[in-house]
Amino acid sequence: MCGIVGYVGGQHAAPILVEGLSRLEYRGYDSAGIGVLTSGAPRVVRTVGRVRDLVDALPKRLAGTVGIGHTRWATHGPATTANAHPHRSEDGRIVLVHNGIIDNAAALRERLEAAGVTFASETDTEVLVHLVARSSAVTLEDKVLDAVSQVVGTWAVAVVSADHPDRIVVARNGSPLVLGIGEKEMFVASDVSALVRHTSQVVHLEDGELASVTADGFRTFTAQARDVPKTTETVTMTADELELGGHGTFMHKEMHEQPQTLLRMLGGRLDDRFATARLDGLRIEPRELRQFRRVKILGCGSAYYVGQMGASMIEDLARIPADAEPASEFRYRNPIIEPDTLYVAVSQSGETADTLFAVREIQRKGGRVVGLVNVVGSSIARACDGGVYLHAGPEVAVASTKALTHMGVGFALLALLLGRLHDLSFADGARIVEGLKKLPDQVAAVLAEEKAIAEVAATVAQAPSLFFLGRVRGYPVAREGAQKFKEISYRHAEAYPASELKHGPLALVSPELPTVAIVPDDELLERNVGALHEVSARGGPLLVVTHEGVDLGVACARIDVPKNEPELDPVLLTIPLQLLAYHAALVLGQDIDRPRNLAKSVTVE
Ligand code: F6R
Repeated sequence: MCGIVGYVGGQHAAPILVEGLSRLEYRGYDSAGIGVLTSGAPRVVRTVGRVRDLVDALPKRLAGTVGIGHTRWATHGPATTANAHPHRSEDGRIVLVHNGIIDNAAALRERLEAAGVTFASETDTEVLVHLVARSSAVTLEDKVLDAVSQVVGTWAVAVVSADHPDRIVVARNGSPLVLGIGEKEMFVASDVSALVRHTSQVVHLEDGELASVTADGFRTFTAQARDVPKTTETVTMTADELELGGHGTFMHKEMHEQPQTLLRMLGGRLDDRFATARLDGLRIEPRELRQFRRVKILGCGSAYYVGQMGASMIEDLARIPADAEPASEFRYRNPIIEPDTLYVAVSQSGETADTLFAVREIQRKGGRVVGLVNVVGSSIARACDGGVYLHAGPEVAVASTKALTHMGVGFALLALLLGRLHDLSFADGARIVEGLKKLPDQVAAVLAEEKAIAEVAATVAQAPSLFFLGRVRGYPVAREGAQKFKEISYRHAEAYPASELKHGPLALVSPELPTVAIVPDDELLERNVGALHEVSARGGPLLVVTHEGVDLGVACARIDVPKNEPELDPVLLTIPLQLLAYHAALVLGQDIDRPRNLAKSVTVE
């Protein structure tokens, strides 16, 4: 989704802005632009397409040490140069970029047009720049304050003006914004990955806050013009983590990082002495944690599917009712919030608007919500009452892989902790602790089978449609497998509970429709094998993801993953499905890291 960068300092702004925008490419976008304060009027360059197209469009000389840049993901108005940001005031002296959505844009536009303003784009954003320009306030800070006080919606905005050429003024409400502190220079971005090449010292703005940023420092203040002191945080992400490091794609790199990142995540979180997990970040005392009678997990897309895995881990290990729901649905249905329910928000980016809204809705109604979040300092991580950081490191590919595996492990840790506070025996706790210790090596063992999985992927890649089947613990695995497959291969893939086969979808089974079946070696093995026979008897080609030594008694292609504990097996069973989707997409020649129409971080509803 849209991205913002800004620079004020002693260097030429344009190359820094363009480099920052290229770091934000992974978020998904369809046009890009920069605005630089040159002597005289600001200079704005915008293009439809990639950041490299913007680079081609830049003039040879674009001097200026203050500027802002943007990658746009079209919402209001198609992807055209006129709709790309930055937007300009009518006299061209004020330039503005915006992430988010202005809900009352239509009414404001009507009012501004009636006052004689001619609009140059179809965007909701453009009202903002005209409101800034028309403000009677004197300082740029007050003009921006004036403008944002008239809009309803979500925004991260950055504004520069030829009349205040030493500064960028920014404001945040519902869309992330961070300041980067350098030596006699300052940076602004919607995502720390755009800053890490220049500084590790950052300041996060909260909703309702503004900042005035100059080369010498910054001032943060509220909509009531009250100054707010800020603490500087150090980010651990390094620029190297955002490089391909010898891999052809980020998705490939991120899948192969999993054994190391999992080891890092588990470090210090397993307690052998009491056969439990240590999750200090939850900030909930054991006695209080024991009081929760239910767990409700909220996330979107793949995070929701892993949430389903997490719910079954919690029910299995802690024996308390748990379920997962798409945060995007939850927020629209006036949910009943119960005081004895522990709410868990799960998100890689920590910026998914639907999940963030669900968190706020729970809190507004007095509920307690903790986060399982990957990006440190992200909006969801900060909004939650505590949580577990996933420590998967930056994930750049739009299709999530390592972060999801970490979510699965995060839920296993939470389930273990809750279990040991309830009736999970020491022996069973120790079994799970040992299982978790084995996971990184077992993930490595699956990744080592990449070549064989690539061969299987080539055989299913050409099928127009695929079924993914799984039962109980295997069902979320099937859902995630289908999701990954369709996201990057653009092939239709549908997940079904194996138990539902006879209730309709069996009619579709034919030699043209391959079925990918998830068959863990657990108490449901016999029933799952039964489903394989039903498919095979109707001529449906089968690819079975199972464990070594499992007798399926049916002709099929198979991928064997190492056996762990039944509660943890779903995490391992998803790994070959990542590789399957990846290699099918590769055979089909798709843009693996940036699938069409999708964004990494879905910051609008
Ligand atoms: C799938 C995928 C999406 C995300 C979803 C939630 O590969 O990446 O389905 O899982 O948009 O995103 P986060 O986890 O950032 O909240």
